[in-house]
Amino acid sequence: MTSVELSGRVALVTGASRGIGYGVAEAFVARGDRVAITGRNEDALKEAVDRLGADRVVGIAGKAHDLDHQAEAVERTMAAFGRLDFLVNNAGTNPVFGPMADLDLNVARKVFETNVVSALGFAQKTWHAWQKENGGAIVNIASVAGIAPSPFIGAYGVSKAAMINLTQQLAHEFAPRVRVNAIAPAVVKTKFAQALYEGREEEAAASYPLGRLGVPSDIGGAAAFLTSEQSDWVTGQTLVVDGGIFLNAGVG
Ligand SMILES: NC(=O)c1ccc[n+]([C@@H]2O[C@H](COP(=O)([O-])OP(=O)(O)OC[C@H]3O[C@@H](n4cnc5c(N)ncnc54)[C@H](OP(=O)(O)O)[C@@H]3O)[C@@H](O)[C@H]2O)c1
Repeated sequence: MTSVELSGRVALVTGASRGIGYGVAEAFVARGDRVAITGRNEDALKEAVDRLGADRVVGIAGKAHDLDHQAEAVERTMAAFGRLDFLVNNAGTNPVFGPMADLDLNVARKVFETNVVSALGFAQKTWHAWQKENGGAIVNIASVAGIAPSPFIGAYGVSKAAMINLTQQLAHEFAPRVRVNAIAPAVVKTKFAQALYEGREEEAAASYPLGRLGVPSDIGGAAAFLTSEQSDWVTGQTLVVDGGIFLNAGVG
């Protein structure tokens, strides 16, 4: 149970049983929003709901790319809370590591399906269910890999670049009622990124001007800003949240 006063706003955050999505849900709950979260593993989702507060959070299990799951997630959010102000497209995948020259194209399709097409599917359904008439905001969790090439995660980077363009397309189409922005994080300490820093965190953090890797609450704070009145004149943008790592570009 939380004692924070209700904001009257409702959010749907995909892929939020742990990691960045959980950090976003936590930031929203902390300001009084009611939140629906998704994820594939039902037990993990239930644990997350209990930790966030079952009085204000519901979990809807399913795979982000599954059209029936998308419809169910939006319908159940509306049924539970009666509105749907904010959508955070966070669920994403990066299943391969290696050169583009040898990339299995079926894997490339899967990456696009989960990272880009799913985000569009959730945005369409949220638009028709609530936002078209009532307004709101969408935040897409992209990546710095969508802005500059990242060796050996090419398909992922291309999908995140597409997500950034999708953000602009939707921002244009959904204006003026709905603002659509993206967040491009660098390495955030989650299960997803573990291989990039495990056993060598100090070394990995040393290349960041701000001296540390990201944590989910860093992205939660950015998502809270992009779904608040403080960003009322911001749409179509990609907020880079990277501990300053891009400042290193050109140093050589
Ligand atoms: N961590 C980073 O350094 C970093 C940097 C830039 C961008 N990002 C982006 O941030 C997003 C979240 O990453 P994360 O680091 O927080 O990952 P994470 O710690 O692995 O968490 C991923 C969350 O999404 C759920 N999920 C995964 N695949 C899903 C699917 N197909 N359908 C529905 N739910 C799914 C997971 O639960 P289940 O496994 O139970 O489904 C979990 O709740 C991704 O889009 C990623 O590309 C991450």
